[in-house]
Amino acid sequence: MKRVFVTGASGFIGRNLVRELVARGYEVRCLVRPTSSIRFLRRAGAELRYGGLTDLAGLRESIAGCDWVFHVAGLTQAFSQAELMRVNAVAAGCVAEACSLQPEPPTLVLVSSLAAAGPCRRGSVRTEADRPAPVSHYGHSKRAGELAVERFADRVPVTILRPGIVFGAWGRLLHPMFQSISRLGVHVIPTLTPPPLSMIHAADLVNLLILAAERGTRVQPPGDQPPKGQRASGYYFACDAEYPDYADLGGLIGRALGRRHVFLWHLADPFPWLVAGVFEAVSRIRQRADIINWDKMREAHVHSWASSPLAAERDLGFRPAHPLAQRIQETADWYRQNRWL
Ligand SMILES: NC(=O)c1ccc[n+]([C@@H]2O[C@H](COP(=O)([O-])OP(=O)(O)OC[C@H]3O[C@@H](n4cnc5c(N)ncnc54)[C@H](OP(=O)(O)O)[C@@H]3O)[C@@H](O)[C@H]2O)c1
Repeated sequence: MKRVFVTGASGFIGRNLVRELVARGYEVRCLVRPTSSIRFLRRAGAELRYGGLTDLAGLRESIAGCDWVFHVAGLTQAFSQAELMRVNAVAAGCVAEACSLQPEPPTLVLVSSLAAAGPCRRGSVRTEADRPAPVSHYGHSKRAGELAVERFADRVPVTILRPGIVFGAWGRLLHPMFQSISRLGVHVIPTLTPPPLSMIHAADLVNLLILAAERGTRVQPPGDQPPKGQRASGYYFACDAEYPDYADLGGLIGRALGRRHVFLWHLADPFPWLVAGVFEAVSRIRQRADIINWDKMREAHVHSWASSPLAAERDLGFRPAHPLAQRIQETADWYRQNRWL
């Protein structure tokens, strides 16, 4: 039986991953903090290890004897670029180094982000061969995390996944949209020209993460990178082949919630930036970073986030189990059953 180490297990994607790993009979060990929400992990039967993401000795000990490591922990929002870098880049390097110090280094799967690759021109679809060009502090920190892990690719088998927007059970990112449509029938769109989005349901992402660990191609060490325009091995976009924009998404959520009409409220510049500024100021006072902030506005004001799922399909036989509309419906049902709406 495989022994698996998971960081970020107490978060949205981590919980979905742990649930599936346990269901498949893997022995799961999770890194948590004293402040982490651990009830679910306890009930799932996972072994808990308390420690920090930059404590190399502690990580080395926790990873000992594991076959796979999923580094899921990360910050999606923060008050400063330095904080994003510390968690998304420095910590990723520490986890990779701890893997490299094992007598038999485990396979490391890093959950990066499409934000690390950056957007593309309207009408085109980004592939893994395109040069990364992040536009947000978050995207830069996730790209720095990829590079920090690449440094150990000569000793550690590494595969890096770049998910688009992830949604599903326990997901908080799209939850405010569901709430606004459910309660008011209103869907706020932070731009007049919303970009096509890449999305993936958490259950599909989890499947892809496990496939990547089993038989993904591995990242080449920094000296062995492919020539410009050729796909770097070991990198996969994690997304559906449908690319709804924010307006389409409002329609999908409205239908899932049984709303006949959803009012699409497009915000024109500079209004969305002002709103983001107010949210950021309030979150600073409350000392809790909010998902609505200036950095996310940078990501909303691009041409397109369409990315290609073809590499994952070709190498790993990956396809989302259900169409996007059905996955949105399942998410609405989960929110209702768990009284999130
Ligand atoms: N959600 C998306 O749409 C999306 C899309 C693309 C990529 N990603 C990436 O997926 C990963 C997980 O995202 P998520 O949506 O599951 O986020 P989440 O729900 O906020 O969970 C984040 C996890 O990381 C842990 N963590 C954060 N900072 C930490 C630190 N300093 N030390 C130790 N643990 C720390 C958290 O632990 P605590 O519970 O103790 O806070 C939690 O378990 C991130 O790397 C993110 O960049 C997410």
